[in-house]
Order: sequence, then structure tokens, then C-alpha cells
Amino acid sequence: MKMWAGRTDGITDAVADEFNSSISFDSRMYAEDIDSSIAHARMLEKTGILSHEDVKKIITGLEEIKKDLEDGKLAIDPAAEDIHMFVEQELTKRIGDAGKKVHTARSRNDQVANDLHLYIRKENRNIFHLIQQLIEVLLAQAEKNKAVIMPGYTHLQRAQPITFGHHLCAYVMMFLRDLDRLNDAYQRTDVSVIGSCALAGTTYPTDRLYEAQLLGFSSVGMNSMDGVSDRDFVIETLSDLAMVMMHLSRLSEEIVLWTSWEFHFVELDDAYTTGSSIMPQKKNSDMAELTRGKTGRVYGDLMALLTVMKGLPLAYNKDMQEDKQPVFDAIDQVKMCLQVNIPMLKTMKAIPENMHRAAQKGFINATDLADYLTKKGMPFRDAYKTAGKLVHLCLARDCVLEELPLEEYRKYSDLFDEDLYRAIALSECVNKRTSLGGTAVSQVENEISRAEKKLKELSDEESIH
Ligand code: ARG
Repeated sequence: MKMWAGRTDGITDAVADEFNSSISFDSRMYAEDIDSSIAHARMLEKTGILSHEDVKKIITGLEEIKKDLEDGKLAIDPAAEDIHMFVEQELTKRIGDAGKKVHTARSRNDQVANDLHLYIRKENRNIFHLIQQLIEVLLAQAEKNKAVIMPGYTHLQRAQPITFGHHLCAYVMMFLRDLDRLNDAYQRTDVSVIGSCALAGTTYPTDRLYEAQLLGFSSVGMNSMDGVSDRDFVIETLSDLAMVMMHLSRLSEEIVLWTSWEFHFVELDDAYTTGSSIMPQKKNSDMAELTRGKTGRVYGDLMALLTVMKGLPLAYNKDMQEDKQPVFDAIDQVKMCLQVNIPMLKTMKAIPENMHRAAQKGFINATDLADYLTKKGMPFRDAYKTAGKLVHLCLARDCVLEELPLEEYRKYSDLFDEDLYRAIALSECVNKRTSLGGTAVSQVENEISRAEKKLKELSDEESIH
């Protein structure tokens, strides 16, 4: 018979039980559930709703359950409907009637929502710290490679010369925004909804602020119906995680390209690659590919919960039990991806010769050739056309712009002079791009120090949480 047997006899069909049960996945919130119940019991004592003796028994019982679960002395009972029922059932088994009192002035509806607030608050910080480490690794690589010239691409066609450091800093910017977003979502996660009860609050003289304070929450949900039925904080977190994955996935795609023989711009440490069961020469970037692949899965988690929530009337509906697997899955996947990407990127080695060789082909200094003429007085559109014709000529002669003799240049414009060769030298093309946020080494250095400052600010912001 179920603990909730009341109007019905509480005897349910085995298939219905299995269908209804969430214990196989919500038991991971056991610590939050127990901590939350301890805070609840303290509040019930403070407000005189329960006696000191009962609360003492409840707290000791709950602490022991937690310890036994952690030590492996107590196994989760798969027959209990969910983690909340399991803990209460175990408590009553251990301390008798006092155990039956812990559920006074609350409902599973506010209990599960509160547990989820606690759980996601904790994981938000875990993921925050992993992204911090990722950024530190990227910044160290950017510093090391701030003067390494490579082709920058648009449409995956060689476009203009850049530095590898600059390229990596672009990812730093993305992950810094991810930290900012996680800090923001944290504020709406760090809210106590316990005391909303089933949906309408309670007639008991509870003290919601005190209970929230015991759990370290910075604020309290102000509408009991919203408290039990809001899953915005879960969706926001999922959406932030989907964005983290999108960023990791774009980087993964580049790593897959850069490690191919066609590019061979970087070498990954063997520890983060795999071989083939048949082709002995293979060194595959499986970690990057899998990260890219898991992105679809995390997007799916976000879509699943958005769809679960879209048609739900207020307040609690059992549909909402479907919130946990997607968010738990997304948290697990993102953490795993970060945990493997951090050391992989840390040990990744750039191959500057190959990057430079690639940068010498593809006429990536053609813009600089046009700029050269423009700076000597030719309107940009005309200069652009002249540079285009010169590229065409080089293609016909199978040479690069740097190799074309000055007399050839002069046939196209008498503005050309000896100084043109310096103007189109790759290092010059890079180091003249000193505009704010540009690829010049001096700018990349600024970029790195600005990013370090921002990382510190975001981390300080997080330390107040
Ligand atoms: N296992 C449920 C969930 O995850 C807990 C809340 C159940 N509440 C209820 N009234 N049936 O949502």
C-alpha cells in the first residue's frame, strides 16, 4: 500500500508503478532532499509546530540515513516511488511516529521543486568552475601562440592572416559569456520555494524566510502557485548548457579539421585520440567528434523540457517529473565534455610551420594589397579591382603576390613602389591590424589581459554566491 493511500486503497498495478516511479533517476538528489528536510524540521521546531523531542529524532534519523547512504550501508529501495517517499519511509522505519511528522506543512510539490533548486544551484557552480579552467587553458595557449601566423577563414576559404592566439581568444570570449549567463541563471535558481506547499501555501504558522536562510538561499519565491510550477530556472540552465555545447562543438569541429593531414595545424596528445581497429596509421580526434555529437543530445534535452512545459495549467502536474532526466543528462554531458576538453586543449601543440605554410597560399594578403593602393590615394573600390586582377595574373602564372616583380605591378598602377612588398608581408598584415580587438600581437596581448580581468570579475561575482 502506498504512503499516499487516502481516498484510494493505494494498491496500484505493477506496470503503473513502474511507469509512475522516478526513483531510478531522482535518487541522485538524496543529499538535497535530506538537507531540505532537516531545515524543514528546524523551522517546524522554531515555529512551535513540532516539539523539540520530535525534531531531534527527525534530524538525527535523517543525518544517519544520509551517512548510511554515503557509506553504502543503506541501499535505495527501488519500490519507493521517488526519493522523497523513500527518505520519509526510511525515517519512519527508524524513528517511528516522529518520522510521520516531517511532512507537516509541506507537499512533495514544493519539496521536489526545492530539491531541484538546490541541486541545480550546486551543479551551476560545478560547471562554472570547469569553464573557468577551460578559459585558463585557452588563455595560456593564446599567450603561447600570440605571434603564430595562420590563415583566418571565411566560408572555410582562406581569407586574411591572423594569429592562432587571436583565434583561440575568440573562444575565450564565448566561454566568458557562458560564465556570465550561468551567474545570471544562478540568481533565479538560488530561490527557496519550500513552504509553497501543494499550491496554495499553508494554515500552519511557518517561517519560510528562516527555512530559506538555513538552506543558504538568497531569496524566497513570492507566489506559492509559481513556486511549485515554475521550471524556468531549469530551462534557463539547460539553455545556457546548450550554448556551452554549441561553443565546444564549434571548437571541436575546428580541432577535427586542424588535426587532419589536409590542415595539420595542431597535434593532440595521444591520450586524447583513438586508433582504428583496421587502419594502423590512424589517429582520430574522437574526443572532439564526440563533444560535437553530444551537442545534439543537449539541445534535445532543452527542447524536451520546453515542450513538456508549454501546455501545463497551474499548478503542479505529474508531467513535470519529466524535467529531471533532461537536465541531469545535460549536466552530466556538459561536465564530461569539459573534463575531457580541458586537458586535451592544455596538451594540444600548435604546428606553426604548417600554419605559416598554409597562410602563404590563398592570397590572404590581397586585402592588404588593395589597402596599399587606397592609402596612396586610389579609391577603395578601384584598388579592390586592381588587386583582384593581380590575383588573377598570379593564378595564371602559378605564383603568389609576393613573387610578382615590380614592373608587373606597375603595369596596373604607377602607385606601386618597392615598399609594397613590405606592406603585403604576412607578419606586416597581421601586426598592422591594431584596431581594437584586431589580430595584431599587441592587440592579442591586450585581449588576453582584458579577458583575465573579466574572468576575475566573474569569479569574484561568483564568490559572493
Ligand atoms: N516525483 C515527483 C516529481 O518528480 C514528485 C512530486 C510528486 N507530487 C505529486 N503530487 N505526485 O515531480
